[in-house]
Amino acid sequence: MALLYKRAKGFADIYGSLADAFLRLENAARVMFSRYGFRELRTPLLESTDLFQRSIGAETDVVLKEMFTFADRKGRSLTMRPEATAGVLRACVEEGLAKSGQITRLFTIGPMFRYERPQKGRMRQFHQINCECLGTDSPYADAEIICMLLDFLHSIGLANLTLKLNSLGCAECRPAYLEKLRAWLAKIPEDALCADCRRRRETNPLRVLDCKEPGCRAQLENAPGLLENNCAACRDHFEKTTALLTQAGAAWVIDSFLVRGLDYYQRTTFEVVSDEIGSQTAVAGGGRYDGLLEQLGGENLPGIGFACGMERLALLLGEAPAARPDFYVLPLAEDLRDEAFAIARQLREAGYSGEMNYASQSFKAALRNADRSRARFAVLLGPDEAAQGVVALKDMENGRQEAVARGDLASVLGRLLVS
Ligand code: HAM
Repeated sequence: MALLYKRAKGFADIYGSLADAFLRLENAARVMFSRYGFRELRTPLLESTDLFQRSIGAETDVVLKEMFTFADRKGRSLTMRPEATAGVLRACVEEGLAKSGQITRLFTIGPMFRYERPQKGRMRQFHQINCECLGTDSPYADAEIICMLLDFLHSIGLANLTLKLNSLGCAECRPAYLEKLRAWLAKIPEDALCADCRRRRETNPLRVLDCKEPGCRAQLENAPGLLENNCAACRDHFEKTTALLTQAGAAWVIDSFLVRGLDYYQRTTFEVVSDEIGSQTAVAGGGRYDGLLEQLGGENLPGIGFACGMERLALLLGEAPAARPDFYVLPLAEDLRDEAFAIARQLREAGYSGEMNYASQSFKAALRNADRSRARFAVLLGPDEAAQGVVALKDMENGRQEAVARGDLASVLGRLLVS
């Protein structure tokens, strides 16, 4: 049958083992983040386009090439959120969530939208687990938020990840660095850089460091690094952050070209990468964005945060076997269906998972359904059992069957399930 409708390119239906993995990720994130005092914030999927242009930066790939932007019926320009930070900070200002003298810790889980070329681990609708901590520029906050990210990744069983760190400097030291970089980039011959970088070296030279084109990357090997050009205050901040990470037992490496793809970062930036998921290696990224809240109309409060890509984490988790239901209730006559319905309810109330067979079909066909449900036990209810107030409990693994009194069913099932 020809499909009448197909999902849009880069958009996915999430079901089966991917849906299971998402649930696992969300649950583990909620547990870990609550240990660190984070609370949930859900922001709209649509925000004004201007919010993203101002925060992410007009010269970034995200804003220039990747946003799903459209005019609403009144001609206002709206954009489907390409990331969470801008919306979270907008909400903090609008709802009064971040105030001086307090630290605000918020997490957001949900879909983001970027018009990128889809490939393994890169979607146009993808999902992030995002955290923001506002109201402090303490390096303890940097270290704690990175530790929380690592704790979360370890709690879902991920190892073999590399934490990359850099410091992008601050409003004090960045301008001088940018001048140095601009002068250095000006010496590269025109044809050695891609068209984007030829423009960027004038408009936003930091973005050149982020270019993925092999030709540009080759040119940049000896470019002046950010870290060595940090001012003393930024260097102290970075040294304290890295010392705390070492104290916490975290392994890290420095990548002095790690500029990230969004313009709002200052000082500490970081990424967690894996070499097990093809070319899309970053499973999480983040950094400090002091000054951004004020730029969006709020108080001048510093902030730091990160986001993990759920699709990429799910690729690393692999296929976990789906949980098996505990029971499948099988009425063996039409007039026993109501009783089967009551048994299924009784077992679920006792905390067990499973279903009943609705269909009128042969015993063989019904048993095949029980098999297909992957239930550990079939609960068979025939006229003889009903007359005696019992059910036949059949172990679907070894075929063994025993008569169990209706009143004892939940406790017997519980005992067999753990044995
Ligand atoms: P980002 O590095 O753009 O940062 O995205 C974070 C993570 O989202 C990436 O490391 C990746 O795992 C995942 N990701 C990004 N784009 C895609 C895609 N097209 N398909 C699948 N996964 C993707 C941010 O978004 C920042 N807002 C993070 C942040 C929060 N910084 C401070 N606070």
